[in-house]
Amino acid sequence: MPNRREFLVGAAAAAAATSASQLLAAQNGPQLSNTNVGGNNQGIISELPENPPLASKLFPPEHKFGVGGTQLGNIFKVTPDEEAENMLEACWENGVRYFDTSPFYGMGLSERRLGHFLNGKPPQEYLLSSKIGRLLKADASVDSQGNWKGDLNFSYHFDYTAAGTRRSIEDSLQRLGVPKIDIVYIHDLTPGMLGKDWREYLETARKGAMPELSRMREEGIIGHWGMGVNNIETCLAAMESADPDVMLQATKYNLMDHEEVLNRLFPKCRENDVSVIVGAPLGAGFLAGVNRWLYSDGIPDGYWEKRDRIAQIAHQHGIDLRTAALQFTAAPDVVAATIPGARNAQQARENRASMNVRIPAEFWQQLKQEGLIAQDAPTPG
Ligand SMILES: NC(=O)c1ccc[n+]([C@@H]2O[C@H](COP(=O)([O-])OP(=O)(O)OC[C@H]3O[C@@H](n4cnc5c(N)ncnc54)[C@H](OP(=O)(O)O)[C@@H]3O)[C@@H](O)[C@H]2O)c1
Repeated sequence: MPNRREFLVGAAAAAAATSASQLLAAQNGPQLSNTNVGGNNQGIISELPENPPLASKLFPPEHKFGVGGTQLGNIFKVTPDEEAENMLEACWENGVRYFDTSPFYGMGLSERRLGHFLNGKPPQEYLLSSKIGRLLKADASVDSQGNWKGDLNFSYHFDYTAAGTRRSIEDSLQRLGVPKIDIVYIHDLTPGMLGKDWREYLETARKGAMPELSRMREEGIIGHWGMGVNNIETCLAAMESADPDVMLQATKYNLMDHEEVLNRLFPKCRENDVSVIVGAPLGAGFLAGVNRWLYSDGIPDGYWEKRDRIAQIAHQHGIDLRTAALQFTAAPDVVAATIPGARNAQQARENRASMNVRIPAEFWQQLKQEGLIAQDAPTPG
């Protein structure tokens, strides 16, 4: 973990990045009309929001912010090597120390790139998470697969058994070139990924992956474990039948959609001393002005209007939509970090800078008055 001096250096860079982002936003122009997606934030505070030190048994990374690893795996389009390296370097320079990845992200590419970047950095200075659930197999015939672009060279099959879990972690350690993984998530154990038989996979994981992860935690090969999923049921099931530490909840806690997680998942996490990492806090780009909602083409009904209105209110309060979206996801007590993905160094700096903006309380009040966010949604400050 970085020391205080490193964070102050990072904060200065982030403030500079905010000015740069204002300029770039003006040059590039967000895709929203008469609204403000990035830049033009008025008050800058000095450091990344921190988790209270040992205030609870909740899984505690020092700062409530990290970076996702899907762009390192060529999601949606190829990220050139240099751009990937520069993105990671920009994160590090700006004090970001939590990195998430998965074997699935680009069929090993995200782990290979992240491992290359972390090589030589003391493991105690950063927090690293990866995932299990898929085993990769060399396959020269594979190029782009779904959202993953470029020459992938590997195919995969699902495996939530104990042996598959251990094998997957050993493979990840080799791709990453590290001796230990801080957090391992059981990835994509959902109806969306596995179809109607998903509960059979859940049963396999209950008997296989979950106890094996607890064993590997005791052995010290991993630090903590949990689920990395886009649904709530799987998280609830894991808390009922095992002893996870942390849930990576992706896609269901964001400015546009959060009530179910707020009402069903967070209380259970508090009850079980399990903390939450928020994935896809920008809706895979929508809340940063990209015309994409999550991982398919469809934008749900009413989302364009809602995004426009929130962005307009943000503009009136001197902040921007992306900043509001990121800080919103980090606000709940049970959330240990939000982990937006960044395609390049500029996005990484902008997102990091967003966490240092002071958002007026009136902004959140207005969102609640207009019914744009839940009345009981925690807000920053
Ligand atoms: N099941 C799971 O465990 C699961 C599922 C989903 C996500 N996750 C984790 O959560 C992380 C974050 O999710 P995500 O990356 O898919 O979605 P996200 O963080 O909501 O959005 C990332 C995308 O937003 C755009 N963006 C980010 N910063 C921007 C900026 N400053 N200006 C303009 N556009 C910006 C980029 O789009 P362009 O690339 O088009 O520029 C980027 O690819 C993932 O990387 C992964 O680590 C886990």
